[in-house]
Amino acid sequence: MLADKDRIFTNLYGFGDWGLEGARERGAWDNTKAFLDKGKDWIIAEMKASGLRGRGGAGFPTGLKWSFMPKADPARPSYLVVNADESEPGTCKDREIMRNDPHLLIEGCLVACFAMEAHACYIYIRGEYILERERLEAAVAQAYEAGLIGKDNVHGWPFDCYVHHGAGAYICGEETALLESLEGKKGMPRLKPPFPANMGLYGSPTTVNNVESIAVAPTILRRGAAWFAGFGAKNNTGTKVFCISGHVNKPCNVEDAMSIPFRELIDTHCGGIRGGWDNLLAVIPGGSSVPLVPAHEIIDAPMDFDTLRNLKSGLGTAAVIVMDKSTDIVRAIARISYFYKHESCGQCTPCREGTGWMWRVISRMAEGRAHKREIDMLLEVTTQVEGHTICALGDAAAWPIQGLIRHFRPEIEKRIDAYSHKASHEPVEAYGVAAE
Ligand SMILES: Cc1cc2nc3c(=O)[nH]c(=O)nc-3n(C[C@H](O)[C@H](O)[C@H](O)COP(=O)(O)O)c2cc1C
Ligand code: SF4
Repeated sequence: MLADKDRIFTNLYGFGDWGLEGARERGAWDNTKAFLDKGKDWIIAEMKASGLRGRGGAGFPTGLKWSFMPKADPARPSYLVVNADESEPGTCKDREIMRNDPHLLIEGCLVACFAMEAHACYIYIRGEYILERERLEAAVAQAYEAGLIGKDNVHGWPFDCYVHHGAGAYICGEETALLESLEGKKGMPRLKPPFPANMGLYGSPTTVNNVESIAVAPTILRRGAAWFAGFGAKNNTGTKVFCISGHVNKPCNVEDAMSIPFRELIDTHCGGIRGGWDNLLAVIPGGSSVPLVPAHEIIDAPMDFDTLRNLKSGLGTAAVIVMDKSTDIVRAIARISYFYKHESCGQCTPCREGTGWMWRVISRMAEGRAHKREIDMLLEVTTQVEGHTICALGDAAAWPIQGLIRHFRPEIEKRIDAYSHKASHEPVEAYGVAAE
């Protein structure tokens, strides 16, 4: 288990003071100027050496992303945009950072802006996060008041930080939809290229990073890249906040070392699986967008990007959704399909039509009201949606279904058999609920 001294988010549970005084006692804003004085190249090199991979889902190396930003040009100012939309089902880590340790994020914004020669940062926060927005705004005001940020601050790098409250749409977490929304337009993803580093907010160079990616940066620089890189496996380094929900005895958010084995994560922090380890059915390890992994494959797996990709799933946002044998797994995935149908912005045909089509078919399959040949037809449709859309919401809608068919095809077939043996067209029996 990660030692307390190695935790970055030492107020994750809000037991301490979230304000500036408390944050300073925990080490935030400690000697920030010293690492700014070492220069932007040093900061980017340290971030690269730390091995930090973006915590927003895709796991893109953060230092490398920062290095893509072009040199400062007065005609086109650079921007940092922090993605605090956090709407991926199962994910609830950024909200705890913002309401309990907001100064780590604000300090991270300053450091990241300095490294990318930006003087302004926008934090785009999910519409439903009211308390989090209030806390964040109060913390930003404290930082201005103390001269830590602002046009003329103690760090010598003019820097403004704006908190922008979204209206509550999952798609606004996709980075280019977020930029559209920030500009006051409908939150619909843009075609890429051009990528935000070349043409982002208001047509200017922009880097979009997740809250956790930015909030860990100051501690990495303070304690050194080697310290951070010392946790986890090669290419999967650092500490990570996991959000564990579902059928465990004590669901929680917890920061631990990347690559911690699944069993250890659950036994150490969540009091084990409800009903014991033999009762585990499957796990969605990275938020609802990633394919499920059946129990026998995940129990001893290290929880990191590469291992989970090799299991044909992903670490995503590290929102670990645990399902025991009481779960109606087909209905659970059908419910996830409904979410993607509901959240599709509708601008690409495969996603707009495909998400609804997939949801209708998988919902029938949950009742058994389908033909077996439709299983392959459904799989085929998922491959026509996947990779054929403007943004990754199409993939996110396809992958959970692919995971279900890959691992639970016999369960779907069993329902179809049971249904077809019934004379009436009533649903065969109550299969239980998706998540009790
Ligand atoms: C439909 C959709 C929703 C997303 N929602 C979020 C989100 O709520 N928060 C987030 O940080 N990234 C989200 N992302 C990923 C962002 O597009 C982007 O990759 C991320 O903010 C980059 O930050 P990182 O490099 O620090 O991980 C979403 C992506 C998609 C396709
Ligand atoms: S994939 Fe879906 S959500 Fe993304 S741009 Fe296309 S229609 Fe919109």
